[in-house]
Amino acid sequence: AELGFDAEAAEKGGFEHFMLKEIHEQPDALRNAIRGRLDFNLGSSVLSGMGSSARDLAEIQRVVMVGCGTSLHAGLVGEYAFEDLADVHAEVQQAAEFRYRNPLITRSDLVVAISQSGETADTLAAVREANQKGAFVMGLCNVVGSTISRETGRGVYLHAGPEISVASTKAFTCQVAVLLMMALKLGRGRRFSREEGTRLAREIERLPELVEKVVTQSARIADIAKRYADHEHTFFIGRGYLYPVALEGALKLKEISYIHAEGYHAAELKHGPIALLVEGTPVIALANDIPGKDKTLGNVEECRARGARILGVITEGDHEAAEFMDDVIEIPACHPLVSTIPTAVALQLLSYHIARHRGCEIDQPRNLAKSVTVE
Ligand code: G6P
Repeated sequence: AELGFDAEAAEKGGFEHFMLKEIHEQPDALRNAIRGRLDFNLGSSVLSGMGSSARDLAEIQRVVMVGCGTSLHAGLVGEYAFEDLADVHAEVQQAAEFRYRNPLITRSDLVVAISQSGETADTLAAVREANQKGAFVMGLCNVVGSTISRETGRGVYLHAGPEISVASTKAFTCQVAVLLMMALKLGRGRRFSREEGTRLAREIERLPELVEKVVTQSARIADIAKRYADHEHTFFIGRGYLYPVALEGALKLKEISYIHAEGYHAAELKHGPIALLVEGTPVIALANDIPGKDKTLGNVEECRARGARILGVITEGDHEAAEFMDDVIEIPACHPLVSTIPTAVALQLLSYHIARHRGCEIDQPRNLAKSVTVE
């Protein structure tokens, strides 16, 4: 500062917080995560770090993903992708629980450890447990040379660039992008056709551009955020591919704004949490035009009837869905699995601007650490 130069401000590249900078970096981060990894001729992906022959991959009978926090939520999107694209059983297990529940793991299981830092203690312990049981273990890390990436010995790096903000943003979207590419590769060794594969690869290729269209709405989202900043409770609802995105949206909001936020499957709300809705309670409804939208709109109606204020994330130009909402954020039309990523970005911006309106510190929320190296 003495020299008229503030090193931290310089690092933030003109943004007020690292979180906002990292949100805006996502088109580039995704470009780097995808670069050289899509094969449009084979309709597949090239992930050499998976270190496995087509034959090895054909023998995989189940995919088990482990992780914590935001990385766990990326795995939940991956679960849908592996089952839909690759016809393989897929599940996500909390890394913290993995080694204590004596998991049924065999050598025909692919265990994917998802960790931005590659240092999370519970995820690392799950890697060691899976290795003990002879599973095919891979890392999905951002930090090159991290403990998890070394101990797994194979996997895929995100190439998202350093993530400083405690609340994870670009790592999440790149994790989902890489999981989609892994599922595509596994799928092409099974029933997923070349044509379908090429179509999906083309959609994955659009990700930087799709996300760009969301980050350019930042000022509009800041304006909407004002109307959602003064509440102590907020619900996020979604179904199908967007259910895990609702969970991640709620996590993001509570991390940085200290608002009590819950993510629910849209249909689960009426099994209890709907009792908490009163006049004006914010409900963030993920109602993109993908299978299940009509049902989600039905659930939105149930919330409206209790006086909730609804912010809908919808597909650009979907006037039918817009009718159900008090406010909307529009996402460009794209493949349903791919749409999870721009939708998550919209929720990151919403959380960021809500936290900013509330005067929160944002980059370093109270009680949280970027990397949790204790159990
Ligand atoms: C901490 C961070 C979260 C992160 C989680 C897992 O709780 O605050 O943002 O999602 O750890 O971190 P990892 O590095 O394993 O992805």
